[in-house]
Amino acid sequence: MDREFIIKNALIFTEKLFSGENSGHDFEHTVRVYKMAVRLAEKENADPFITALAAILHDTDDAKLFPETAGNKTNAVCFLRENGADEEDIEKIIKIIKEVSFIGTDSPVPSSTEGKCVQDADRLDAIGAVGIARTFAFGASRGRKMYDPDIKPLLNASSKDYLKQRENTTFNHFYEKLFLLKGMMNTDSAREIAENRDKFMREFADEFLKEWNGEA
Ligand code: ADP
Ligand code: NI
Repeated sequence: MDREFIIKNALIFTEKLFSGENSGHDFEHTVRVYKMAVRLAEKENADPFITALAAILHDTDDAKLFPETAGNKTNAVCFLRENGADEEDIEKIIKIIKEVSFIGTDSPVPSSTEGKCVQDADRLDAIGAVGIARTFAFGASRGRKMYDPDIKPLLNASSKDYLKQRENTTFNHFYEKLFLLKGMMNTDSAREIAENRDKFMREFADEFLKEWNGEA
């Protein structure tokens, strides 16, 4: 099994799978998460191969984009089998993919260092300047309003409430998820990067409200 060959193929596979997807879960998100996860793995002494593949495949069975394969992570499993990955590695990678998603304050903490790096990389891509852009792109893709002072955010929701479908605004997502992520990082390396991105995002939110309210 040629490790570099599988990683290259995984990138080709995801680029095809996400073509035409512009809601923030696009191929470019996958590439950023892959690069960041490998960067964190180096600092955290995690296995670079498992980290790389789990990062590249982390959204290929996302419940919002692929509800029919989400339960068994079929897209990722089939890709790995077809590309001759070891069963032991497949098991580790699928476990990481199942643990990665944010589902509220009771989101799972990954059991492996590799999983911690992938989850941190995914969360880092949700915050900062890129995170702001992705959030508005996602909101637009769902036909959401940017902001409405009458629709209040659901603060510190656990998965039961966080995953409920309800009328919501894009701006509320900052309070329901994005501002929580800095405090939910698993690794010191990610916490350090999150610091700056979180600060930038809070400045953005303050300025947004000031402009909206005619105060700036
Ligand atoms: P995870 O990557 O932890 O699985 P999601 O897939 O729910 O999390 O979200 C990934 C990104 O998609 C978010 O960081 C955000 O940019 C965007 N997003 C998800 N849900 C919303 C929402 N309700 N409103 C606006 N943006 C959202
Ligand atoms: Ni993701």
